[in-house]
Parts: sequence; structure tokens; C-alpha cells
Amino acid sequence: RTPRSGVVVAVAALVAGTAFAVTPPTAPAPPHRHEPVAGRSPGEPAKRFTLTAGTIHGAWAFNGQVPGPELAVTAGDVLEVTLRNRDIERGVTLHWHGYDVPNDQDGVPGMTQDAVRPGEQFVYRFLADQPGTYWYHTHSASDIGVRRGLYGVLVVRPGPSGTGCDLVAPAASLRQGAGPQAPGDRQPGPSEAAASDRACLDVTVPVHTLDGRLLPNPTTVPAAAGTPVRLRLINTDSTTHRYAVSGAPFRVVAIDGVDLAGPTPLENTALMIPAGGRFDVLATAPAALFVDGRLVHSTGPAASFADSRPAPSTGQDLAKLSAWPVLDPLTYGTTAPAPWSRIDRSLTLVLDRGVDLHGLLPRYAHTVNGAADPDIPAQVVRRDEIVKLTVVNRSLAVHPWHLHGHHVLVLSRNGKPASGSPLWLDSFDVRTGEVWEVAFRADNPGMWANHCHNLPHAEAGMTLHLMYS
Ligand code: C2O
Ligand code: CU
Repeated sequence: RTPRSGVVVAVAALVAGTAFAVTPPTAPAPPHRHEPVAGRSPGEPAKRFTLTAGTIHGAWAFNGQVPGPELAVTAGDVLEVTLRNRDIERGVTLHWHGYDVPNDQDGVPGMTQDAVRPGEQFVYRFLADQPGTYWYHTHSASDIGVRRGLYGVLVVRPGPSGTGCDLVAPAASLRQGAGPQAPGDRQPGPSEAAASDRACLDVTVPVHTLDGRLLPNPTTVPAAAGTPVRLRLINTDSTTHRYAVSGAPFRVVAIDGVDLAGPTPLENTALMIPAGGRFDVLATAPAALFVDGRLVHSTGPAASFADSRPAPSTGQDLAKLSAWPVLDPLTYGTTAPAPWSRIDRSLTLVLDRGVDLHGLLPRYAHTVNGAADPDIPAQVVRRDEIVKLTVVNRSLAVHPWHLHGHHVLVLSRNGKPASGSPLWLDSFDVRTGEVWEVAFRADNPGMWANHCHNLPHAEAGMTLHLMYS
């Protein structure tokens, strides 16, 4: 009900000696690779999973659990997921949120496939070539489906040479507050090599409310001092969540599955994650570390992931955390020149609230360019065009915008050019009065959903389609 719930992620700090992530040497490349899986020989490595959707104690679950099983694969794997529907009458699909799959794997019913009805199945198959943090959810009756529990985590870990915590090095090899390092500047020091021998603690933290109730997160993971920790914070909810990582300096090393360039250490800074968005955080456990998610209450911080010595966050601690300033990703990290110097096409989305006259009594709809789904004309692009998308919010609500099949590069917000690391997003909050300019390369042909990820809004009109001519 409240526009923002908060989540506190507190990482225990028992000693002051801390370590920091090392800057990635180069700006991240655009995350667009869509290699067809079809041509690969049957002997290719494949990771197979089966997800069976069914009702259980009033929830809708995959394999009897909420969230569904975590699908963890390694870059280079072919991911094969068999979706079965036991008894969900509304039908089920799997959409790989943020993962830029070929169009026929995108899981949008009525567009890329039919919804899977009770007793039916559908097999998804694609190459896991985009390391990062993602999630999956049903796109059939998506609002109620996700709220009842049909979602889970998808993690693509880097190839055999990487652990996901590779960027973490002990303090000895990096000065605190040191600026971004020049390419080629980075030599792994002996202490860093030692660190990489240490097991990396790689924790996913999906946060969700179930029908307006906050779900406790049951994770409790102890970590020894010096352990590099990667927290994959995932907002699977329909509204913004606020996170605070306390106790150790940390870096936000990736957003929406794409590495950031030159992320600097942060402390006493909160993270606002839009609906559908993911922030990957790296920290080094300074001493015994516990990640412990718990339900607090629905208006302030929602859960805490706290060290349990001394006792986890009191109400007062949480109040302190919720007063922290919020990181602005548009000014965080190292700027790099835009990968394109031209714009081939400009599209505009004006988000508003209007009256939908389908019935005798008007009902309020969330509108795009003055119309509501299914009456919003599809927007059309040509393959390989560089497309600029301007998103204007004239309504009083926050709209977490989500384009399927593509990551967009943030150009500006409210006329102010993005000045931090190149930001490749698949989910971004457009607040009241804001104007976002983003751009993408039309490199993934098909017909794609383009919608607000506040799912009740999406179902009340705020959904359109992007097509390739
Ligand atoms: Cu995560 Cu169209 O959705
Ligand atoms: Cu919205």
C-alpha cells in the first residue's frame, strides 16, 4: 500500500580493516549478444531444470516453493527449462526478466507463445552468455501470478575462470578512496591472489511482498573474516525498495546484470532498487558475517540482513539507516564515451493516468501517449538502428519502466546527462515529472513487450509493444 517499502541489508563490521573491490579495467561492453542456440551440437553443455507450477496452501509456487528454485548456471551453458503447469487455471509462462533472450524464448503469452495451461508444458532453451543477476516470473496474469509466488532467481555466473567475486581484493592492493584505475593499471597483487583462493560467498537476496504482506527472508549465512561477499539484491516486487548495506564499505559492481565501470566504495548510502531491478554489491566480510533477512514492518525498512552479534537491528538502527542519502547511479562510477555517435530513430512515451471509456462507467487507466493497452499503437524500429526512447512521467505515480529483449543505455534524466558509469538498465524508475532519455541498439528482432513493471499498472493499460519492421 505504501509507495515504498524498505529493505535493510546490514553487513556486519567487527573490525575496521577493510578491503575494496578493484575497478574493472575497462568500461563494460553493451550487453547485447543473442547467439542462436539452435546451431549448437547436442553434446554442448546443458543445464536442465524442470519448474512445475501449482497451487500450494493458497500460494502459486514453482516446485512447491516461493520463491521458486534458484536457477544457477555458468556462462557458456545452454539453459534448458521445462515449464509444467499442474493446476494454475490462469495459465503460466516464464519470462526471463532482464535476460535478453531470443524473442521466441521471452515468455509473453499471446505474443511469443501461448500460455501453458494445466496439464501442458513448454521447453525454454537459450545460451547463457550474459553473466549477471536476473529473475524469472510468469507473464501470464502476471500481477496476480507474481504476487502469489510464481517467480524465482536466475544467476549466470562468469565462466570457469571467474567466481563472481573476482573484483574483490584486500586493502593492501588498493587504497581506500583511490580513483578509478587506468586500463592496464591493474596487477593482481599477492594478497589478491590469496583472496581469490578463499571461497566467495555469493548470496542472492530476492525481496518480495506477497499480497501486500512482507515475506521474511530465511537466509542466514556465516562468513569468515576476509571472505569476499557478493550480495545480489533483487527487487521482485511491484514497487521500489530501499536497501541499506551497513557495517562494511561496499561497491555496487553491477546493475541489472551489467558491470559498472569504476565503482567507488560506499558507506552510509542507501540503494533504491526499482521494481524488477537488481543491484550487485561486493563487500569483504571484516569478521564473522551473517546475512539474515527478517520481516520488520511494512512501512519502514522491510527486512534486515544483519550481523547477529550484537543483536540485529533495533527499530532505532533501522531509523538511522533509513535516513541515509540514496545513491544516484547516474553519477556513480567512471564515465565512458557513448558507444554510438548517432541516433537513427526517436520514440517517445508519455506516461499518464486517464479515463478508459471501454465500459459505460469510466475506469481509470494508466496510459501511454494517451491510450491504454490494447489501444496503444506499437512502436516500430528497424534492425540495427540506434533508437532513442524518451520517457516522460506526467502522472503522480512512479513507473518502473521495463523494455523486454534489450538493455537501454541511460543518456539523461531531466535534461542532465548521465555522468557516471555507462548505465545499461532493463528496469528504471521514472518518477513524477521526470524525463528520461535512454537509447538502445535494435539488435534483437521480434515483438517485445514494453511496459511499466508496477504490474497492476501494466495490467491497467500501461503496456505497449516494440516491433521490428
Ligand atoms: Cu519482469 Cu514484462 O516483465
Ligand atoms: Cu506504472
